[in-house]
Amino acid sequence: MARLTDHTPSPEPAAQPAAATASADVALRPATWRDIETLAALDAQLFEHDAWRERTWWDEFAARPRRQYVVAVGAAVPQQRVVADGTAHAPEASPDDADDREPSAPSMPRTDGAPHVSANGHPEHILGYAGLDVAGSTADVMTIAVTPEARGTGLGRRLLDHLVTAATHAGAEALLLEVRADNDPALRLYERAGFDRLTVRRRYYQPGDVDAVILRKLLKETR
Ligand SMILES: CC(C)(COP(=O)(O)OP(=O)(O)OC[C@H]1O[C@@H](n2cnc3c(N)ncnc32)[C@H](O)[C@@H]1OP(=O)(O)O)[C@@H](O)C(=O)NCCC(=O)NCCS
Repeated sequence: MARLTDHTPSPEPAAQPAAATASADVALRPATWRDIETLAALDAQLFEHDAWRERTWWDEFAARPRRQYVVAVGAAVPQQRVVADGTAHAPEASPDDADDREPSAPSMPRTDGAPHVSANGHPEHILGYAGLDVAGSTADVMTIAVTPEARGTGLGRRLLDHLVTAATHAGAEALLLEVRADNDPALRLYERAGFDRLTVRRRYYQPGDVDAVILRKLLKETR
């Protein structure tokens, strides 16, 4: 996955029965800078080896529209909104935040203790996120992740399908990604979604000597 350098919607599959959160109860929306603190905290939990810090997220958001990020939000699993320092995470997406105007400084003071609030006024929790880089004829999956509580519900596939559709609409002919060879859930997700193995970069991930598997999905046929 492109994240390893750490510079450093769409066909909706049928939702599977879910323990915690059915994918059908989850909405996808564009990520905004207001999500960055949450995304960095989640990344630290979900990516053991190469989590993106807030600075990286800011850099990624600064690269839009070439970069595109989406978050999956639902009403479940409030405990996942605890940030690394143990305090309650308190952002606040406002419904009229569509233009996503960003502050000039990368760190906005947090002024309240309220959770994200969706357009219908309900607390909103990020259950997953995904990002894309589109440059000419090729697009890359920058990241994709689902919180443990929401896994196995089809949300990862839904996020991936969203990226496939977004890349196709942006004119890309192929979508590429790289994944650790020991990441069986992700490999399964990608292969079920029609990605083919292109090559393997031996011992790419360090430490640990873990290979990187490069996968590709041709997009022309999905247009
Ligand atoms: C990889 C990840 C995004 C999958 O999310 P998810 O919401 O659980 O995936 P889905 O429920 O949509 O399942 C998609 C497919 O992957 C398969 N899959 C998901 N988790 C799996 C697991 N633990 N073992 C085997 N297969 C698994 C599912 O069976 C499904 O295939 P299907 O067509 O047979 O149903 C999630 O495990 C995750 O966030 N992992 C940590 C972050 C990460 O590694 N991201 C990828 C970096 S390259």
